[in-house]
Formats: sequence, C-alpha cells, structure tokens
Amino acid sequence: MGGKYATETLEATKGGIARASAILREGGLVAVPTETVYGLAARADQAEAVARIYEAKGRPSFNPLIVHVADIDQARTLAEFSAEAGALAKAHWPGPLTLVLPRRAGAQLAAAVSAGLPTIALRMPNHPVMQALLRETGLPLAAPSANRSGFISPTCAEHVLASLDGRIEAVLDGGSCDSGVESTIVAVREDGKIEELRPGPLLIGEQRKGADRVEAPGQLASHYAPGKPVRLDVTTAENDEFLIGFAQVAGNCSLSASGNLEEAASRLYACLHEGARSDKPRIAVAPVPAQGIGKAINDRLRRAATPAD
Ligand code: TXA
Ligand code: MG
Repeated sequence: MGGKYATETLEATKGGIARASAILREGGLVAVPTETVYGLAARADQAEAVARIYEAKGRPSFNPLIVHVADIDQARTLAEFSAEAGALAKAHWPGPLTLVLPRRAGAQLAAAVSAGLPTIALRMPNHPVMQALLRETGLPLAAPSANRSGFISPTCAEHVLASLDGRIEAVLDGGSCDSGVESTIVAVREDGKIEELRPGPLLIGEQRKGADRVEAPGQLASHYAPGKPVRLDVTTAENDEFLIGFAQVAGNCSLSASGNLEEAASRLYACLHEGARSDKPRIAVAPVPAQGIGKAINDRLRRAATPAD
C-alpha cells in the first residue's frame, strides 16, 4: 500500500514481544493477535497514541475503543465494578467478553478512548502472546479490530497488512485467531441490569432489541464489508458470484464442510477476504443456522451484505 511507515512483521518470540512493547511505550501502533481477531493496539493512557488509531483506521471519532487489560486489578483502576460486573469478569476472563462499565474518576485513560462516553469498554484477552505483551508494557492497550474502518476484520497477520501496511509500525504475528469473530459486548448498568450490545463467541442472554440509538457503533448497519455486493442464504450461485459454502453447500471456499459452527466462525473473515480478493464481482454466502455462535456469524454477515451509505 505504501504509507508513511515501514510496517515490520514481528515474530511472537520474546524478542518480538519486547520490540512490540518498546514501540507501544513510545506511542506507536502495533497490530496484535487475540483469540477473537487481530487488534490495532496503542497505549490507552496517551492522547496522541490513541488519536493515531483513529487516523490509521479512518475510524469516525464517535466510535469508542475497547481497552485491553492484563488482569482484573488493572481493570479495577479504570472502571467501577459492580458486584454483577465483578462476577461476569470472574466467570469469563480471560476470554471473548467485553464489559462496558462506568469509567472510574481519575482513570489513566485518554478521553478519546471512550469517545466522550462516561463508560469504558474493557476486555482481558485469552491469547498468550497478547497477555505477554500486556504484562511487558504494563499499560492498558486500546485496540479496535486491525482493519480500515468498515472493512473485513483480520484473523491473521496477512489480513492486517492487506489493509494497514504502511500505516502502522508493526504487526506481531501470532498465527491465526482461534475464535474468529469479535468479543461479545455486554453493558452492566448501575441497577445491575445486563444488556448485550454485540453478539459474539461468548453466549450470554438475548441481544437487546429495538435500540433507538447506536450505542456500540460496531452495530452500524453496514460493517465488515468486502467492497463488493454480498447476497445471503444462497444455495446455488450465479456465474459471477464467489460462493462461500457451509455444510452441504460446497462453494468456492467453505466455512465448514462438516457444518460445525465454531469452525465456521473461525473461518468467516478468511473466506470473506478470499471472496474480496477473487476476480468475481459479487459474493454469495450459503445459509448458516442462527444457533449458538451462528447468531454472531449471521450478525456479521448481515452487516457485510448491507451497502454503506
Ligand atoms: O474481539 C474484540 O472485541 C476485538 C479484539 C481486538 O479485542 N476488538 C474489537 O474492537 O472488535 P472494535 O473497535 O472493532 O469494536 C469495538 C466495539 C465497537 O462497536 C464500539 O462501538 C464498542 O465496542 N464500544 C467501545 N466502547 C464502548 C462504550 N463505552 N460503550 C458502548 N460500546 C462501546
Ligand atoms: Mg471492528
């Protein structure tokens, strides 16, 4: 792509992690592996570093970021944990759960991290490389998915480079992400009520219905878009369509030939990236049952199929 920065690819070794940590401490941008998708990390306590995330992604400034923490003690310095929030963290961290909590007064966080909201989104990821990096920096790291705003999320270092090469200092290559769709986002309200803002790998209650405002802007109708028309629930593709299969629908690439939903989630973005790269002008996707993690898969597919306005 050719940008301002020569993006380094760092191996997930002790040396690579130390180099990533040094870049982050200086206020630079490093794409990092997590168990869900790759994140674009910057130190969350420094306004200039956080501003660079928005700039590199082309992300609208009203869309707040998730802050990643090494452990629950660090999380408690940033947000107010009610008993309900503490119980959720204890049960599901480290893991693909993001908690939206009241921001703690005096928390060492750049204001732009939460885009002016009184809340903060926190997550303790379950990926050994990301955990080692969080411990090594000793800093909370803001990290949205490592893709240009609105496009397909990355589940390997190559996907990151496809959209951010030259715009960030480095990518820390930790291989392919296990779960493959972004974390479940849950808001814990002051009265203890829990609202699911984004479905994800962790299955938790019913998704909030009929919200009248965009509270987690990842919930914008068009998102995760491969840059060509996407048609859903297709069993027979047209000639000009790249078909993403599932179960008995074979397609040009398959989410899971055996119909396994976990496998389908882990391959979702790789298949969308392949469809985006192919010479076919359109993408079609086989039906995927909306059960379990299939709910998150269908959520992302619907947004990928909605044209941006
Ligand atoms: O799995 C994940 O969550 C990945 C990895 C890298 O951790 N991150 C991720 O970040 O998906 P991003 O920026 O693509 O999505 C973050 C979502 C957005 O929809 C944003 O609006 C929402 O989190 N969010 C962040 N802070 C929030 C807040 N204070 N209140 C409500 N929603 C918030
Ligand atoms: Mg994203």
